[in-house]
Amino acid sequence: MGKVFLIASGKGGVGKTTVCSNVAAALAEKHKVLVLDADLDLSNLDIAFGLRNRHVYDLQDLYYRNATFEDAAVSVPGHPNLTALFAPLYREVSVELLLRFLKSLIEEKKREYDYIFVDCPAGRGKTLEVLSDPRYRYLIVTTPDRTAISDGERTADYLFSRGCERVRLVVNRVRPSLIKKNHAPDIDDIIDTTAIRLIGLIPEDVSVIRAGNTDTLAYDLPKSRSRTAFGNIALRLTGVYRDLDKFN
Ligand SMILES: Nc1ncnc2c1ncn2[C@@H]1O[C@H](COP(=O)(O)OP(=O)(O)OP(=O)(O)O)[C@@H](O)[C@H]1O
Ligand SMILES: [Mg+2]
Repeated sequence: MGKVFLIASGKGGVGKTTVCSNVAAALAEKHKVLVLDADLDLSNLDIAFGLRNRHVYDLQDLYYRNATFEDAAVSVPGHPNLTALFAPLYREVSVELLLRFLKSLIEEKKREYDYIFVDCPAGRGKTLEVLSDPRYRYLIVTTPDRTAISDGERTADYLFSRGCERVRLVVNRVRPSLIKKNHAPDIDDIIDTTAIRLIGLIPEDVSVIRAGNTDTLAYDLPKSRSRTAFGNIALRLTGVYRDLDKFN
């Protein structure tokens, strides 16, 4: 049975879609991975994979039975084991109904895939209310700012209160120069002050911005600073021990 990961956060714009798409690509080197977009109002997982307007059907077409899963699911170029199903650009069905449909799809597809990654919108609203499940795993993405960490913790608390224990923290956009100057919280302090176990650090990386604007993934750029960090998170998710990444 495949493992399901919901990629969530407290604050918006901290890098959920970036982490979701790149870690999924790293995992797909050895495993069969499905990525689902649960950001039903402001979906952009398709952009992260360089596939905006290059797919015909989406989750809503599946809901309406205008398409089968095979019609709607897209094979991500360059990643033979990576499949994605995108959210509609113009949603007609209510968020609640589409989320319930998505949950049933997760339950069905976890029999076929080793890993299912679900890219969630920010916050602890309807998406986590409908999709969260104690059997699933959660990556809470934060940047190293007090507000993002605090909001991430409150999102984790919500998950804990619903019996979801398998929650891990990803700290994205780490800038060691700011930490050295005491302009950003020290990573040890973050580990000490949050109740969420850290699973990975990702550096601030211009390749992520470049990749996002040129239809590629930072993970696919061999010289990108963040590539190893995404790969290490994927390894840790499969149970392989890796030291925490160190950046200059
Ligand atoms: N490690 C990084 N280095 C540099 N830029 C980054 C990094 N991670 C993310 N970004 C940039 O931050 C922006 C937001 O990232 P992303 O869309 O992944 O966040 P999000 O949490 O999914 O946002 P939303 O809450 O709107 O869904 C993007 O422009 C992305 O390129
Ligand atoms: Mg996003």
